[in-house]
Amino acid sequence: MNKPTNIDATSWEPTPNNLESFFMGFTPNAAFKKRPRLIARAQDMHYYDMKGRAILDGSAGLWCCNAGHCRQPIVDAIQKQAAELDFAPTFQYGHPKIFELANKLATLAPGDLNYAFFCNSGSEAADTAMKMALAYHRSRGEGQRQRFIGRERGYHGVGFGGISVGGMVANRKWFGNALAGVDHLPHTYNRKEQAFTKGEPDWGTHLADELERMVVLHDASTIAAVIVEPMAGSTGVLPPPKGYLKRLRELCDKHGILLIFDEVITAFGRLGHTFAAERFGVVPDLLTFAKGVTSGTVPMGGVMVRQHIYDQFQGGAEHVIELFHGYTYTGHPIAAAAALATIELYKEEKLYENVLALENTWADEAMSLKGHPLVEDIRTLGLVAAIDMKPVEGKPGLRAYKAMENGFHDHDILIRITGDTIALSPPLMITPAQIAEIFHKKIPAVLDSVMKL
Ligand SMILES: Cc1ncc(COP(=O)(O)O)c(C=O)c1O
Repeated sequence: MNKPTNIDATSWEPTPNNLESFFMGFTPNAAFKKRPRLIARAQDMHYYDMKGRAILDGSAGLWCCNAGHCRQPIVDAIQKQAAELDFAPTFQYGHPKIFELANKLATLAPGDLNYAFFCNSGSEAADTAMKMALAYHRSRGEGQRQRFIGRERGYHGVGFGGISVGGMVANRKWFGNALAGVDHLPHTYNRKEQAFTKGEPDWGTHLADELERMVVLHDASTIAAVIVEPMAGSTGVLPPPKGYLKRLRELCDKHGILLIFDEVITAFGRLGHTFAAERFGVVPDLLTFAKGVTSGTVPMGGVMVRQHIYDQFQGGAEHVIELFHGYTYTGHPIAAAAALATIELYKEEKLYENVLALENTWADEAMSLKGHPLVEDIRTLGLVAAIDMKPVEGKPGLRAYKAMENGFHDHDILIRITGDTIALSPPLMITPAQIAEIFHKKIPAVLDSVMKL
């Protein structure tokens, strides 16, 4: 293509010329640019397109805008912070808000997850946790523990660490071998045993014991950490089998392996608690977060760290750095201000309590789609639902792609898709009436629109 011409920001219209230069990730570029889904503004539960049409946000943006959109207390905090302190380094310096935020998170986190490290995304958080695990073992004289155990159908972002332990083939196969010495637990989904389960399935707890098999295969002394999402989100919402996470914790303890929970999706209310670790009664050694910490307003991610891991890095000469890791924007003041205001809003509006209060209604309404000729399975947990659709023969992913297109253009709902699954995870301020609108009106209309493909 030629360089774009006649660019006039004051009268921006979605012409082919204006849409060309943005190389979009995780998007088929040509199809998008032919029929773009453009969002111009947002408020509370809704997005608005360029003509002002309201579109119900069925996925909290990308699982991140948990407090709803453009909430005034968060907007005010961001604006005030931008005018007061735009940036301050957190290598060798600091600023008050990031310490305030770290203390708040330590108070909210279960067990002795007493320390917070900050970065800018979930991918960075996953890679940070993995690096911490390696450095921790090395510092204890167990530097041979370099192997990571992820899980099939896991998603840990797009860094080289994250794609190595993740279990999504398309995210891995294009990018070489990435980290060596990684193995994967089996995923926990079995449609025959679990179809149409609300919450955690009864079947599948035994799959945690696969870790024992890996210990036999590799020897525990080579394994640094196991990393799992408490609920796999991006590969189609796979709630953990009952007791599965507790069993993983026991096995990790038995073999001196660190347990990392990737809570990028599950933290900040999605499952009714600040961290899903609390819901499941399991304290991991390292816990990653991002997305909901600022309700998606300003990029921020981080890792909660248990006391014994932090302590392991202490005790060297006073002027010597303990952890050779960090990002220019670690603890950015505007992200810190946004996070503090967001966490306060979650508390003030009792948004996590809203999730717990609505969880059964949400699950029941979602299950009302059982019996639709396209629906093969439905799974729910907290304020999350997944609807598996029958794929079009020979064209996997086509039905979901069309469902997303039609949802946006014709049925005023924004959804997230993966394979032929629709994933729903709206902002936590949702009302029972909006839940009914999703499952009785919008999603049925979307499903009917993709019946014949
Ligand atoms: C569990 C999990 N980890 C990591 C990530 C990556 O986060 P980011 O896109 O902010 O890098 C995601 C994103 O969806 C996620 O769901």
